[in-house]
Amino acid sequence: MAAIRGVFSSNFGFIMAAAGSAVGLGNIWGFPTQAASNGGAAFLLMYLVLAFCLAYPAFMAEILIGRYGQANAVSSLQKIANNAWQKKFAITVGLMGLIGASLILSFYSIVAGWMMAHTIEPIAVVVNMPNIAHWLTDFSVSRNLVFTAVFTLFTMFIISKGVENGIEKWSKRLMPFMLLILVLLIIYVLTLDGAKAGVIAYLSPDLSRIFEPNLLLNALGQAFFSLSLGSGVMIIYGSYIAKKENIVSLGAYVTCIDVGIAFLSGLLIIPAMYVAQAQGVEIFNQQGQLLSEDTLVFTVLPHLFTQMGSVGLLCAFAFFALMSVASLTSSISLLEAPVSYVVERFNVSRKRSTIVVSVVIFLISTLIITNFSTLFGLVITISTQYSQPIVAMLCCVFVGWIWHRNSVLNELKQGDITVENSFFWKVWPWYTKLVCPIAITAVFIHKFV
Ligand code: PFF
Repeated sequence: MAAIRGVFSSNFGFIMAAAGSAVGLGNIWGFPTQAASNGGAAFLLMYLVLAFCLAYPAFMAEILIGRYGQANAVSSLQKIANNAWQKKFAITVGLMGLIGASLILSFYSIVAGWMMAHTIEPIAVVVNMPNIAHWLTDFSVSRNLVFTAVFTLFTMFIISKGVENGIEKWSKRLMPFMLLILVLLIIYVLTLDGAKAGVIAYLSPDLSRIFEPNLLLNALGQAFFSLSLGSGVMIIYGSYIAKKENIVSLGAYVTCIDVGIAFLSGLLIIPAMYVAQAQGVEIFNQQGQLLSEDTLVFTVLPHLFTQMGSVGLLCAFAFFALMSVASLTSSISLLEAPVSYVVERFNVSRKRSTIVVSVVIFLISTLIITNFSTLFGLVITISTQYSQPIVAMLCCVFVGWIWHRNSVLNELKQGDITVENSFFWKVWPWYTKLVCPIAITAVFIHKFV
């Protein structure tokens, strides 16, 4: 028997869950990495503009589709369709989103597994188990498989508990905890020698780079990944918001939290790199750019932690715990998207659906781990650079071109009777109809042609 549909019990619950999905490795790792290699504050500035002007309207489109449809991504899109071909189109777009979410989760849980292994490593050092400590940080198939499996089990546990007792409850616990660790780490790092140079490098924009096409592409891609767009995730989360809630302001809160945490993460990572430099660690590559991506997280920062002695062990533990928690609140949303579809489409229990979907995704992760050099980058490219922007754009097309304007307005009015006279209603319909689809297509064409 299918379960009764869940609903978020409060605004705070939704905000924590949606912000939990949005805030993840993309913010704490991806954003500072991108900022480091794209001119620091120049990237930050364009990221802010694109997140609010393009990603937020697209985010609102997805939440609204879900709230209207009160169902998984495929069924919600179908409810907007007016005729047979539009319904087929809706099924295609919805399924593309769910497949995209599953592929993202298949690589995301591998990376999250690395974070968990690195969280445990300082403990292995303290209890004097050097072999285990080495295994935990060494890149091996066994370590990757074990920790992907452990991380998948955590994700499954939360999702099997449902919307209120699983997603909402755990997001409400984990998000404040994550913010606390982040703030404590920032405060600590800013007291260290060299941090000031990092803050200056992060916050003084190299204005000559602001309109560089690559910077814009990276900032837009980062904003879409960060707000979890084009994966059906925000459609399903939107479907759990009660009709009386004002989703325009809920969406704005989530966007602000997401952008705010990306900003704070930059304030941790970039100064930490300069602290590492002050302690003799190499932080620039041969072209004179700041080291980024995996080198930053798995070489520069651990090097810094090692130099710091026993305080470094504590910092390493806190930093990787922060990364693990941030990944978990995102991965639960990625699993919820396909799980809710299977529950509603095939009328099976949430537990059974969680097990079946997780096993399939874990098998894909296993395939990636055992063919790492060929598949890891490929799956990331397909899911985040192709699938996410295309599905996000098509959701805007649904709202702008297929869904009747009056019906859109009525849906919005349920939570805010005055919305018709608001700035949002004057601007947003045009954004979803024209600006978002054109901008996303332009970025896409520029990237691949
Ligand atoms: N927003 C998450 C991050 O920034 O790490 C990643 C993500 C979660 C992408 C959920 C897509 C998604 F559907």
